[in-house]
Amino acid sequence: MVKLDSRPIALIGLMGAGKSSVARVLGERLGVSVADLDGMIEAVEGCSVAELFERAGEAWFRRREGELLAEALRSGVRVVACGGGVVLDAERRKLLRERCRVVWLEVSPADAVRRVRGSHPDPARTRPLLAGGDPEARLAELLEQREPLYAEAAHVRVPTSGRTPLEVADAVLEALGGA
Ligand code: S3P
Repeated sequence: MVKLDSRPIALIGLMGAGKSSVARVLGERLGVSVADLDGMIEAVEGCSVAELFERAGEAWFRRREGELLAEALRSGVRVVACGGGVVLDAERRKLLRERCRVVWLEVSPADAVRRVRGSHPDPARTRPLLAGGDPEARLAELLEQREPLYAEAAHVRVPTSGRTPLEVADAVLEALGGA
């Protein structure tokens, strides 16, 4: 079994990067607990991320996401799959960088759209920020805005193009082994 150091692994990156799937694989491989922030919010609030954006707004969602990240870290979870926008807040970037080993799962907008469509043919149904426009163009725009933020928060980067979640999980462990 691969040894984890004392800090949990946090996966960040654009929606469609495979954070949730890779976190699940890492949890199984390492035999440790995993938190998925979007999943936590949905479970706690009892409705989907898309519904929460619609009912409560993005600012509320961001606050809740930050609270649940802090809660997950306090609970001693070993792997955290973050929502794509977790890096928008400077305090959260600092928290991640200081408390976790942060892995940026890199994905191109084209691959991201393909993967997001895997969970629903209409990307806007599961990812509210992709509503009303061409999802690939929107993802390219988000990536351009967020690239410096992902870079600031991350300790290592792992490309995901053409790789399965199992392969990405291997690459994450290898990258962290050398970090
Ligand atoms: C978002 C990404 C989503 C979810 C919400 C907002 C973003 O999570 O938190 O739709 O701002 O990039 P995933 O990255 O898990 O899709």
